[in-house]
Amino acid sequence: MPRIFTVIGARPQFIKAAAVSHRIAEVPGLSETLVHTGQHYDANMSDVFFDELDIPAPAHHLGIAGGPHGAMTGRMLSALEELFMAERPDMVMVYGDTNSTLAGALAAAKLHIPVAHVEAGLRSFNKRMPEEINRILTDQCSERLFTPTATATRNLRGEGVPEARIVECGDVMFDAALRFAAKAEARGAGAAQLGLGRGEYVLATVHRQENTDDPVRLAAIMGGLALVAAELPVLLPLHPRTRARAEAANMADALAALHIVEPVGYLGMTGLEKDAAVIATDSGGVQKEAFFHGVPCVTLRDETEWGELVEAGWNSLIPPGDAGTIRDAILAARGTRGAEITPYGTGNAADIIAAEIAKALS
Ligand code: UD1
Ligand code: UDP
Repeated sequence: MPRIFTVIGARPQFIKAAAVSHRIAEVPGLSETLVHTGQHYDANMSDVFFDELDIPAPAHHLGIAGGPHGAMTGRMLSALEELFMAERPDMVMVYGDTNSTLAGALAAAKLHIPVAHVEAGLRSFNKRMPEEINRILTDQCSERLFTPTATATRNLRGEGVPEARIVECGDVMFDAALRFAAKAEARGAGAAQLGLGRGEYVLATVHRQENTDDPVRLAAIMGGLALVAAELPVLLPLHPRTRARAEAANMADALAALHIVEPVGYLGMTGLEKDAAVIATDSGGVQKEAFFHGVPCVTLRDETEWGELVEAGWNSLIPPGDAGTIRDAILAARGTRGAEITPYGTGNAADIIAAEIAKALS
């Protein structure tokens, strides 16, 4: 029976795997083994997703996290190579653009094991982003490239990737949003439990390296959110990277103005997103979820891989240079809606992926 090894390690990858793994399990004659690199390790960055989203426990946990990019990726590469040499899977599947993604793809490609990349073809065209390097190299190593959007497909064609390798399947995060909608609904109103009224707060997330590790940008973001909080409560589930940087940079005053909570699970996050007046974020996944739930979004970055949402008026791109500009953009987004578009498929990306993999391995 063909064996797929799927490498995951960071929060969004658990959510993507939750959408796809159960579909693979339904295909007769395919077996999937989950490998957790350990990149995200706090209970609220990892375990909570396995518990809430019925993801099978990983068969292998490498326990590798932290350190600079080269060291982290290098340790993962070495451990994954050893594992793949011992286990000889028929295919390795990776998601997105993290260091775990690149390590999985590179280890497999060097051993001539075909790689399937889910969320292939995304580009910010900014090579200062670690994720951009990870994406480009992963796509180059991949045999099967599953793209979430027409733009991603065009990007790969533009780079000369052979047409036969590209499968435009839609976005697995859309599948996840549909699959877990009822479960999230049953969880109830998370915002109310935090004392926040429906439609009466801004939900923010910040974790991108270009924002957290640049004190000027981080101060603009936290300062902008603090200015918004004078008018509308701001709820910030705080990523551990951002907490560490903000505390080190002495941003206590700005943080004190915000409603800060620990990172929340996917079901709770879905409720918080749905009830927000505006979402302000530098997350890739959260930009799309804002759109899925019909909530206006302000993206605190210089560029986005999900440009269709900006073009359709769901998302405004605000480079984090100045607190006042960020405040104005967030408050101006209240009550706005974009055009009716369907750029992320029909919610059956996981079915397409499972069927294509079965075909490739038959
Ligand atoms: C990583 C990905 C990013 C993705 C994000 C999703 C890379 C290069 N970056 O960024 O693309 O959008 O995950 O959230 O792979 N930490 C903890 N506990 C945890 C996890 C992290 O304390 O459970 C702290 C550690 O100090 C760690 C730091 O956060 O060194 C950064 O974590 P890391 O995984 O390197 O990067 P992220 O910013 O999470
Ligand atoms: N998310 C979550 N809890 C949080 C913040 C985010 O469950 O406290 C979810 C969010 O709903 C989305 C995913 O994590 O599904 C996005 O991951 P993240 O922002 O960490 O990474 P990115 O998408 O930018 O790579």
